[in-house]
Amino acid sequence: TSFLRILGIETSCDETAAAVVLRHHNGQGEIAADVVLSQLDEHSAYGGVVPEIAARAHVEALDTLIKEAMRRANVSLADVDAIAATSGPGLIGGLLVGLMTGKAIARATGKPLYAINHLEGHALTARLTDGIAFPYLMLLVSGGHTQLILVRGVDDYERWGTTIDDALGEAFDKTAKLLGLPYPGGPAVEKAASSGNPDRFSFPRPLVGEARLDFSFSGLKTAVRQAATSIAPVSDQDIADICASFQKAISRTLKDRIGRGLQRFHAQFPGQAEQPALVVAGGVAANQALRQTLHDLCDSHGFRFVAPPLQLCTDNAAMIAWAGAERMAAGLKPDSLDVQPRSRW
Ligand code: KG4
Ligand code: ZN
Repeated sequence: TSFLRILGIETSCDETAAAVVLRHHNGQGEIAADVVLSQLDEHSAYGGVVPEIAARAHVEALDTLIKEAMRRANVSLADVDAIAATSGPGLIGGLLVGLMTGKAIARATGKPLYAINHLEGHALTARLTDGIAFPYLMLLVSGGHTQLILVRGVDDYERWGTTIDDALGEAFDKTAKLLGLPYPGGPAVEKAASSGNPDRFSFPRPLVGEARLDFSFSGLKTAVRQAATSIAPVSDQDIADICASFQKAISRTLKDRIGRGLQRFHAQFPGQAEQPALVVAGGVAANQALRQTLHDLCDSHGFRFVAPPLQLCTDNAAMIAWAGAERMAAGLKPDSLDVQPRSRW
């Protein structure tokens, strides 16, 4: 046939997801079905993801979701060229559920299995949505990850920067909690910030000016706590001002850290014919203020800013299926059915 058709499974955190994705011979991607069930309601009362609840919810939902994805794509397992399942990093209970399901389907159908690194899924998504060419830079900012990655090719990545403490989404979530805002914190902080004064508080911008490309956000959280406790009682306007100042500090930090990354990319790949791209992924990419910052930054460094649609920026199985398709198309071998999940991969 002239395309690969892959079934993808994602269960590494609090989204249960199944998808069917095609990869045409010319490299073009097509999503035939993409089904995601968020467990947000089950975890929100606890202010964060509870691993045991997540694993049980994956068990309950996954079979139905896979069937639903097959139905929407109008195919059966016999029409699939391979199974791709996330095998790490993530919560071990969820990884076990998804990977074992993938193995079982592979065993029963005789189809190859690709055990996918969740980060590779995020990293390759822009090729599915925007068809962008290697090499490019990817910024992954979610509740669990803050990474700047050079994507040289399939299976060929170089991590340029990572957080030395909290992930960026985690910083939003913790700040929201401190201020009494609901979980998940990102959207709540962004909403409050829209009516706040970003210049009222001067929050720290850790690592700004340093040559290495890492991030640090835990000091920011401490500064927010101090600001909040220095005012009593805290009004809605105070909260809005703290959120706006918090977002401003993050914008400044990203501008400095990622600006250096873009310069380094130019230095490493001089005279590329095509305009280089910075791709964002992860839930924090939903934040309009940060998007604008990255957009402006790309403009001033001669980069193209690529932001896949939000439902493909956050956790989903289309990106896992696509990573499997890219691996298969690149001639990489499938994984053995002995492959084990790797929580900290
Ligand atoms: O990628 P994602 O849906 O899940 C994983 O972490 O894997 O990202 C969730 C994170 C949460 O920390 C949430 O607070 C943050 O993304 N987030 C936001 C916004 N929407 C979601 N952070 C800032 N601004 C937003 N609008
Ligand atoms: Zn993710």
